[in-house]
Amino acid sequence: MKKLIVAASCALAMMTGTAQAQDLRIAFDVPYEPFEYRDDNGELTGFEVELATAMCEELQANCEFVIQAWDGMIPGLLARKFDLIMSSMSITPERAERVLFSEPYYITPGGWFGPESFNTDVTDMDAMKDKTVGVQRGTTMDTYVTENMGGVVNIKRYTTAEDMVLDLEGQRLDAVFVDYPVGEQTILNREGYKEVGESVKLGEGVGVAMRKRDAKLADDVNAALKKLKEDGTYDTIMQKYFNY
Ligand code: ARG
Repeated sequence: MKKLIVAASCALAMMTGTAQAQDLRIAFDVPYEPFEYRDDNGELTGFEVELATAMCEELQANCEFVIQAWDGMIPGLLARKFDLIMSSMSITPERAERVLFSEPYYITPGGWFGPESFNTDVTDMDAMKDKTVGVQRGTTMDTYVTENMGGVVNIKRYTTAEDMVLDLEGQRLDAVFVDYPVGEQTILNREGYKEVGESVKLGEGVGVAMRKRDAKLADDVNAALKKLKEDGTYDTIMQKYFNY
């Protein structure tokens, strides 16, 4: 686990001499553009990275950003490797049994993407038989495909969304099922690809995940997110990273 940047914002606490700024570690799975990725200079950026930075300022917290592979997100949180997950984690009842979610701060459906030549109805299980479909392991897309298409399609599960997109390009996959904005910005922006099916609502929006016992932190996070929505910061960040 690499320690990355420290977005410090304890100025106000110091000025007012109030309680010490909180230290918070926030986990991202990178790259997952436009949510969290590295820009051309190698700097961590993206919708959730900027939202997290603004949230930390609001909370007057010293935040450290931690890179964590998706499949170890919840175990890492529970093992106290970090304190919050902001990795486009969709709120689901199964996850809510293990972690505490903030209010949703974004909604992303699962989207189907493939090459121009793909002409199969992804909801037609006869036609989909023996097609090879890629998902990131342990995501809501993985669960959906496993539950609805298991035994019909070949499911290839990837540790990173990046490797999945590489395999699509290498024609080792017929289609991928991934958070819509990720497909839109990392697949549709290339020549020769299109949406190959209707998006599917999965989960109840994306939330910040925290440990169950951190109820006070969750209250603070919700208050900070509310403030950022009210003062326009949220919209400014959102418009920068999403096309709608
Ligand atoms: N939204 C999906 C889920 O909650 C996928 C998220 C994957 N996020 C990531 N940063 N790789 O399962």
